[in-house]
Amino acid sequence: MKKNSFKLAFASAALLTLSHTLWAGDITQGKTKAAACAGCHGINGIGLSEEFPNLAGQKQAYIIKQLTAFKNGSRKDPTMNAMAASLSNKDIADLAAYFSSLVQTDTQSSTSENKIMSTRASNREFPESIFISMKKSATIETFPQQQSWPGGPNMLYTAITPDKKMLLSTSPSSNTVYIFNTQNGKQLAIIKTGKAPKGVKVSPDGKQAYISNQGSADITVINLKSLQVSNTIKVKKGPHNVRFTNDGKLAYVTLQGGDGLGVIDTQKQKLIRVIPVPGITGPHNLDLSADEKTAFVRDFVHHVAVVDLTTGKVNKIITVGNGHGGIDVFPNGQYAATAAIGDDYISIIDTRTLESRDIKIGTASHGIRVSKNSQWLYVTLPKENAIAVINTRTMAVEARIASGKFPFWIAVHGNP
Ligand code: HEC
Repeated sequence: MKKNSFKLAFASAALLTLSHTLWAGDITQGKTKAAACAGCHGINGIGLSEEFPNLAGQKQAYIIKQLTAFKNGSRKDPTMNAMAASLSNKDIADLAAYFSSLVQTDTQSSTSENKIMSTRASNREFPESIFISMKKSATIETFPQQQSWPGGPNMLYTAITPDKKMLLSTSPSSNTVYIFNTQNGKQLAIIKTGKAPKGVKVSPDGKQAYISNQGSADITVINLKSLQVSNTIKVKKGPHNVRFTNDGKLAYVTLQGGDGLGVIDTQKQKLIRVIPVPGITGPHNLDLSADEKTAFVRDFVHHVAVVDLTTGKVNKIITVGNGHGGIDVFPNGQYAATAAIGDDYISIIDTRTLESRDIKIGTASHGIRVSKNSQWLYVTLPKENAIAVINTRTMAVEARIASGKFPFWIAVHGNP
């Protein structure tokens, strides 16, 4: 009985944190509230003497569980029972967000807002390997392994095959796409594309890759078995990036020349429709909502257009950071995140309410992609030559990892 009620209390606390949007735990508010804990646990989360445990860097779920247990009496400690008695579920979530965001050292308080530049990537933040193109180093870097593979000039956009065996990366200055073996970084092929190839995507069945040739207004289709060009699809001016639907039947292409969003029938290999996207300047990058009824289209000025793909109407224009950048819908469908190369923040758009929230990232950002489990948001910082990792539970920057020059685009397996 006792056990059950404890379980229930924990379950409802956990539910609350989940249902109250992702940032139920607010680090800033948590910091304010943590003043009450400082006398024993220290404001930086390092216990002031032997009897007071460290809380800095402790797992959020664990802190929530312990505080809930102290509150309902299932864990007994007179001091903590008294402390926890007055905490609401929101207080607990905020405190947990704050303490878990702290770094586990006993140096002066360093919240995640501070710039923490670490050189090593940890497995925690990279549950699966990711691949980032370094435009100015002409390499691909893998994380968390931090291996560097030589590539072509201006390695730009990247994509990984569904079987994880190959990585593709465009080189617009040499009008080619490089194909790497992800096991060892060896170049399997360098294939001629159209002019100024930009975005590259692999069809969900892994058989083909589409490359948007911004300079020649067409798409190069590559057969991934023979590693040869199988077709060229004419589109409109300035195709920049592509996104296949999950069934692979359609591919949407951003027409940066201004026409809008092209729709390609992948069976016919033909442009069958163009959806105009008024209100933005040059459709640049895109992603689809989880139900694929909505496209989030990033321009190269400071807008995201929310396009209803059924009616072809623009539902909303959202103002985001200045300059171009990537856009990525979380695999769990909850948010769309977009970077901004001319600004110091990224924007997180709630895909249901279409409200957006900014996260200060410090300098220019460009590539942006969420891990397959939606827990980690990776952002490239081309001016800092670094990668930022954001914990999507708290929306706090947890790590900054030094990289090669001008990190540009991120490929994450399981997040097209
Ligand atoms: C007067 C001193 C004191 C204050 C103030 C205090 N704590 Fe504690 N806290 C303790 C002690 C002592 C323990 C160890 C309890 C035990 O033996 O299990 C503890 C344990 C904890 C634990 C469990 C740690 C673990 O590793 O299991 C958490 C979480 C915690 N405190 C959070 C807080 C928070 C949040 C506040 C502020 C709202 C706070 N405490 C205020 C003394 C204090």
